[in-house]
Amino acid sequence: MKIFADTAIISEIEEVSSWGIISGVTTNPSLIAKSGISLEDAIRKIVNLVDGPISAEVAEADAESMVEEAKLYSRMHKNIVIKIPMTIEGVKAVKLLTALKIKTNVTLVFTASQALMAATAGATYVSPFMGRLDDLLQTNDAGYILLKEIKDMFKTYNFKTQIIAASIRNLEHVNQSLKAGADIATIPYKVLKEMVKHELTDKGLEIFREAAKK
Ligand code: G3P
Repeated sequence: MKIFADTAIISEIEEVSSWGIISGVTTNPSLIAKSGISLEDAIRKIVNLVDGPISAEVAEADAESMVEEAKLYSRMHKNIVIKIPMTIEGVKAVKLLTALKIKTNVTLVFTASQALMAATAGATYVSPFMGRLDDLLQTNDAGYILLKEIKDMFKTYNFKTQIIAASIRNLEHVNQSLKAGADIATIPYKVLKEMVKHELTDKGLEIFREAAKK
C-alpha cells in the first residue's frame, strides 16, 4: 500500500517528503483553505516536493466546466490528477477526462455503488472516506467494510481503478486500509507522525542508548 500525504500545507509536505516514503499528495478545497495559499500556488510548490500523483479538486459543478477547469490544472504538471466529486455531473466529467487521458480521483465516495459508477466511467482512483462514514454511523469499522466491499468488487469485475483510503483519522484506519487491501492510503500529517511511534520503541531506545554509553 502506497502512502500519500493528505495535506496542502507546504511545510508539512516539505517535512514528510524528506522522509522518502511519500508517493503522492491529495488536496481538497478545505485543505487548500487551511494552507492559506491558492490551489494554483499549492500545485506549483507541491510538484517540486513530491514526484508522484497530486490530486487537485475542481470547484465547478457541471461536467463541461469541470473538464475545462481540469484541463487548466493538468496543463500545469504531468503529475496532476483531477479530483472530481461523486455526482452525476462528476461521472460525466470523468468519462470525458478519461477519453482525454487525464487522470481522475473520484472523491466523497461512501458506497460500493458510487465506486462502481466512478470505475465504470474510467476513474484512475476512487477515494472512499473512512472517518466521515465512521462518524456518521458511529462505528469504528464502517469505513473498513466499505473499503473491503469496493476491493472485492474491483477484483471480481477486474476494474483497474485504484482505491485511495481517505478521511483517515487514526492508526486504526491505517491498519484497516492495509487489511482491506487499499492500493493507497492518504494520510494527514498528524497520523503520519504517529505511525513511527510506539511507547516500547521509545523505551527500548532509551535503554540501548544508556547501554551504549557504558
Ligand atoms: O482527501 C480528503 C479526505 O481525506 C478528507 O478527510 O478528515 O476531512 O474527512 P476528512
